[in-house]
Amino acid sequence: MIGPLQLPSKTRISIVGVGYVGLPLAVALADAGYSVTGYDTNASRLEELKRCNPSVETITPEELRRALEAGTFVPTSDPSVLSESRVVVIAVPTPLSPDRTPDTSAVESAAELVAEHAAAGTLVVLESTSYPGTTRSLLLPKLEGTLGRVGHDFYLATVPERIDPGNRRYNLATIPRLIGGVTAACSEMARAFYARIVTECHVVSSPEVAEMAKLLENAFRNVNIALASELAILCERAGLNVYEIVRAAATKPFGFMSFVPGIGVGGECIPVDPVYLTWYARRAGAPMLLLERAIETNESMPLHAMERIEATLRADGLGLDGARILVLGVSYKPDVADMRNSPALAVMRELQRRGALLSYHDPLVPSLKLGDTALTSQELTPDVLRDASLCVVLTAHSDLDQPRIRQLTPRFLKLVSP
Ligand SMILES: NC(=O)c1ccc[n+]([C@@H]2O[C@H](COP(=O)([O-])OP(=O)(O)OC[C@H]3O[C@@H](n4cnc5c(N)ncnc54)[C@H](O)[C@@H]3O)[C@@H](O)[C@H]2O)c1
Repeated sequence: MIGPLQLPSKTRISIVGVGYVGLPLAVALADAGYSVTGYDTNASRLEELKRCNPSVETITPEELRRALEAGTFVPTSDPSVLSESRVVVIAVPTPLSPDRTPDTSAVESAAELVAEHAAAGTLVVLESTSYPGTTRSLLLPKLEGTLGRVGHDFYLATVPERIDPGNRRYNLATIPRLIGGVTAACSEMARAFYARIVTECHVVSSPEVAEMAKLLENAFRNVNIALASELAILCERAGLNVYEIVRAAATKPFGFMSFVPGIGVGGECIPVDPVYLTWYARRAGAPMLLLERAIETNESMPLHAMERIEATLRADGLGLDGARILVLGVSYKPDVADMRNSPALAVMRELQRRGALLSYHDPLVPSLKLGDTALTSQELTPDVLRDASLCVVLTAHSDLDQPRIRQLTPRFLKLVSP
């Protein structure tokens, strides 16, 4: 049995997968004085990192440059670095397969890599989001095969990442961490490690509790966004302002949390993690019907957005076919560049299918592909604004000059919250 986690400065720590989640963790650990290697299988991503381009909002180029220049963070494609690491954190993607079941292949191949290279005594942490049982059934057997007995010869815990890219109030250091070790010794090792970079750790009784709690958090968001969106559709019929109603309800100091309607949900978490949960629930014979319905509602919202655009044009005797639609904001939420599962793209696809001629403006997304069509972000010149049949805000970045656009364009529609 190995003693308490000793992490003198310069201890080597490896992060497997340095994207939205792994990169800020790597830089936080580097800032705390550790020698951090970021292992990644994507060669172009590693090249970008070496050029001080984080490509994610969870870290600034200056923060990355500082860690690279200090030599405390080294991006690499060489898995042998894992053998010198006292701690290995896995932060690889957990998307959906085409048949909408959990795709845990990256977690499994990362676990195989760690099993092959890591040394005895290593603390292995899974930060990726997945269904309950992932750590115990997919990681543990592989690691035990080469590293020995868990809780004695090596340590394994689930510590789901809860970061919210673009959130200026809460960051990696101030969001409390859930710690679910396979044994009590594993939890203690993981707690001692995270206590060095976050202000609060909450130890739970098992990895399954931590995995399920993370899914509950994102299922809660998915359900409440769906509720707000259904209310918005009702308010459109009833001639009421849904935002005013949500603001009014939010004056209650307890028992209510504000969620605003939109054109759907995007990113890697809110549209995906709830499907991990409904898949797990059906497999366990206890379907979560409310959540399944919420997922459907959120997925139907881009179609509703398209219908509102069509109705706006129809009111002026125009149709979608041949209409010049200028979309304002295409990333999945304001002030981030992330396009993954962006509902704005889903709206654009629907518009394109109905013959609309699309262009867009998004300073964070210089170009995008819509089917076979390549589009580049347009400058909002007076000519561009005047030429559009309709300008529609699908993602409201904070620097969008809406009063100016309203003044210059013949038709303006905003489908997301102010
Ligand atoms: N993005 C978020 O806001 C967020 C928040 C909380 C949790 N999560 C979860 O964290 C996990 C990672 O998400 P992300 O957004 O950082 O993904 P990402 O795509 O931004 O980054 C993942 C990185 O892992 C690399 N990778 C893929 N397979 C690999 C492998 N086998 N070995 C090594 N590297 C590999 C990819 O090249 C990529 O650079 C997911 O489970 C996600 O659900 C994401």
